[in-house]
Amino acid sequence: MAKTQYYTATSIDGFTADKSNSLDWLFEVDEGTANPFGEFFAGIGAFAMGATTYEWVLKNDNLLEEPENWHDMYGDVPCWVFTHRDLPPVPDANVFMISGDVRRVHEAMLVAAQGKNVWLAGGGNLVSQFVDLGLLDEIILGIAPAILGEGAPLLRSKLLMDDLILTGVREVGQFAYLTYAVGDVARMGRHLASEAVTRIPSLG
Ligand SMILES: NC(=O)c1ccc[n+]([C@@H]2O[C@H](COP(=O)([O-])OP(=O)(O)OC[C@H]3O[C@@H](n4cnc5c(N)ncnc54)[C@H](OP(=O)(O)O)[C@@H]3O)[C@@H](O)[C@H]2O)c1
Repeated sequence: MAKTQYYTATSIDGFTADKSNSLDWLFEVDEGTANPFGEFFAGIGAFAMGATTYEWVLKNDNLLEEPENWHDMYGDVPCWVFTHRDLPPVPDANVFMISGDVRRVHEAMLVAAQGKNVWLAGGGNLVSQFVDLGLLDEIILGIAPAILGEGAPLLRSKLLMDDLILTGVREVGQFAYLTYAVGDVARMGRHLASEAVTRIPSLG
């Protein structure tokens, strides 16, 4: 079944950007030779980002002058940008500006994704709105060896032990990748795991 995934890089203390919205601290980190993003994105049929993230991507990748950079990264996979403003679209890219309730847009994204996964690219402001409506199934974190002290938080929502189950741990270069199932998926996994444990005959 298609999943809605939040895949992002983060500092150890849970910030996706520093207080100036800079990612310079991230790009210094050795990512090894097997960055898993390409494999991840191959499974994505639609994605979304908040206005602050979109503005960062526009500027960092010089997309208004070099729109081919967007196509090189994301091809024709449709992207919804949440904003209340009139932001410039990347020329000839499959980008839709949208505002309001994320539930309605999420339904459209699932249809557009045609059975593939939906990627919430960030930031924490936008993704928290999906979390609060129970629409997030998985978090994939690439944890960089950096502690920022302040910045853009990974999420503003609260997810505790009952909401998360660790499903993957991987070391790539200097990054530690952690994957968590979220919400109902995590609760189902925990329930099945505890049922399996109780079925194992006691050794005593
Ligand atoms: N480390 C990474 O891999 C990574 C990944 C993603 C992002 N980031 C960084 O994270 C930072 C931004 O994160 P953030 O959480 O502060 O911001 P964000 O989620 O990217 O954007 C928030 C903005 O999006 C608009 N918005 C959000 N929800 C909306 C809705 N339902 N309807 C309409 N507009 C909506 C609002 O802007 P307006 O009202 O002004 O339009 C809001 O201020 C950036 O610096 C980015 O580079 C890092």
